[in-house]
Amino acid sequence: MKALIVDDEPDIREELGEFVEQLGLSVALASNGEEALGKYFGDPEISIILSDLMMPGLNGLEMLDSINDAPESRQRVRRVIFMTANGNTQSVIRAMHLGAKEFLLKPVDLDQLERHIVSAMREVAADQARQTEEILLKQQVTLNSAEISALNRDVEEAYAEALACLAAAAEHKDPETGQHIIRIGRYAAVLAAELEKDKQWCDMIRLAAPLHDVGKVGMRDAVLLKEGPLDDDELLHMREHPETGYRILSGSAHPTMKMAARIARCHHERWDGTGYPRGLKGSEIPVEAAITTLVDVYDALRSKRPYKPAFSHEKVMDIILNGDGRTESQHFNPEVLAAFESAQSRMAAIFDQLGDDREFATQAGSLKREVL
Ligand SMILES: [Fe+2]
Ligand SMILES: [Fe+2]
Repeated sequence: MKALIVDDEPDIREELGEFVEQLGLSVALASNGEEALGKYFGDPEISIILSDLMMPGLNGLEMLDSINDAPESRQRVRRVIFMTANGNTQSVIRAMHLGAKEFLLKPVDLDQLERHIVSAMREVAADQARQTEEILLKQQVTLNSAEISALNRDVEEAYAEALACLAAAAEHKDPETGQHIIRIGRYAAVLAAELEKDKQWCDMIRLAAPLHDVGKVGMRDAVLLKEGPLDDDELLHMREHPETGYRILSGSAHPTMKMAARIARCHHERWDGTGYPRGLKGSEIPVEAAITTLVDVYDALRSKRPYKPAFSHEKVMDIILNGDGRTESQHFNPEVLAAFESAQSRMAAIFDQLGDDREFATQAGSLKREVL
């Protein structure tokens, strides 16, 4: 901490300088306002200014004005004490307005000066400590939030990958391609946004919808991969996969996993109540499941299967909206269907961008799986 003594009278300047030095401060001296400004801006240690008010050239008030106006002094702690031979009230008021803390009449009473300087030192030290603390705190907060967002990103990525692995594990048994489950997540998120769900919900369904068939891991291969029609027992076994998926996923308390569990359990329910496993009807079916059902049907119809060629977007829209004897529009939640219709060009784009990367030439039993 340093004091700047500004006075045009050399004797007074020297004398005051020595006195202030004895109080434990380093001192810089200036003989007028201009010189004082140069020293002040050139030395960041200066935080106490003891200045004459009336000086030739730039006077004390003008000097303080310039200091206050300079952007570089905005963050700088300082205390200003003025001295003057005549107690001009106007000047005193102005000086106070400019932030001068104290006003001393010349000749200066040294006891009074000592008190003012000592209290200025204390205040400057306290202000500087507060400022440092604020800066440190700000840095800490910035650092912490940066660390937290990095950690959050890591956890979210790990979580999304874990879900994708789980979906892929189920798909390993099931000949539907890996691209299919990725597309399902994308369509579902777009459809959710079209239904004005918030971003968090859309992100959740993007991760959750691909797990709709995770219960197929519990199916016997003989049924899953069977060629030709299933008998009654096999049909019952096949229809267990929603509940199996629900059991696998419902152990978690995580909201995305809970959503995935509801989707797995209800993705074969139909709006008109003709679905399974519970024959739920209308709004009894969670909307996330209704979304997944529709995009799953859309994607299956667009894809090439052993029992059918890949259909065009237009043909698939016609089947979904007008029915073909197997798929009927009353199977779908009407609100979800309307949103799907308005978002159809984006659905088509997702299929076009993420088309199947391998031929679907494996198990013919998939015919049954698709129908069920
Ligand atoms: Fe299924
Ligand atoms: Fe599927």
